[in-house]
Amino acid sequence: MDQKNIDDVPTAIEIVGAVTAQHGMIRAAFHAAKTGSEKDQEVATERLLRLLAMHEAAEQLTVHPSLAHAGGGPVGVGDDRMAEERQTVQLIERLQELDHGSYEYNMQLALLEEAVTHHATAEESSELPLFGELGATERMRIGQALHAVATAVEGECPIEYGTFSTMVRDSTTWLAG
Ligand SMILES: [Fe+2]
Ligand SMILES: [Fe+2]
Repeated sequence: MDQKNIDDVPTAIEIVGAVTAQHGMIRAAFHAAKTGSEKDQEVATERLLRLLAMHEAAEQLTVHPSLAHAGGGPVGVGDDRMAEERQTVQLIERLQELDHGSYEYNMQLALLEEAVTHHATAEESSELPLFGELGATERMRIGQALHAVATAVEGECPIEYGTFSTMVRDSTTWLAG
């Protein structure tokens, strides 16, 4: 992890580490959304949904397009993952319509966690092995976007809470800015 070149371009291994660390952060955020008082759970759920919006925006902006252009990678890897991300938007927007703490809400949160876990595992097995094929510019963009998300979620979040597609759109604008 110390093998940075002169331009501080992250290595493929460092990028893989950053993606899996962010997936770990998401798993922990799901746990927090189901633990503690109702108020704690509501706060934790908002943080979870903000994190998911920023993470998916970062991937849609940097990871998936880079892999789609990466030479030698299986065609369509990014497309499958992007279809799962569109499905996630629907699951979250349905969750946001339900009363927090209701039976339906808890069922929907469980469905969402299962879908997001499946999606992250699929990314880790299908996409991360291809990161070695990316050029320095692409690795730099991915590294910067993931770092921005990890930093933002720990501090004052730059994304106002709202519907999930609005948060993804705002996250994309923020990351691209
Ligand atoms: Fe993703
Ligand atoms: Fe991901």
